[in-house]
Amino acid sequence: MPTGTRIAAVDDVPERGSYLFTASDRHSEDTEVILVRCEEAPGVRAWVNVCPHEFQRLDRGRGAAVRDEGIVCPKHGSMFDPCSGDCDNGEASGTTLPDVAVAVEDGDVFLVDDGYTFRHEGGEEDGDDGPSSTSHIGF
Ligand code: FES
Repeated sequence: MPTGTRIAAVDDVPERGSYLFTASDRHSEDTEVILVRCEEAPGVRAWVNVCPHEFQRLDRGRGAAVRDEGIVCPKHGSMFDPCSGDCDNGEASGTTLPDVAVAVEDGDVFLVDDGYTFRHEGGEEDGDDGPSSTSHIGF
């Protein structure tokens, strides 16, 4: 088993969207992270939930917009490669999403990044975006 914390099942990560969770970083600051599907192994990647252009959240609590071309920034429409985190178009061109290390084992996604500690599913202040922000979480 990976020496990390289980985040979610791979099946919880939508093909066209993202799975949002919160981790604390080295400075004990809460940071939002998204899981997205990637065609390359292990099939899932994790990125800090922020567009480097103007620090816009990619997933605002309802899942990021993910198309064939990539993860779409809701502010200016730049698209990021779900596997590399790179952006080569629009306002955010030339930037890369900060990555968070995850591993997949037996259909589950684990947080294995030394810089982050899993806190909880959903956003940093879940509920701030209104009731719908938690709608993707199944209780
Ligand atoms: S804030 Fe994302 S492209 Fe401008």
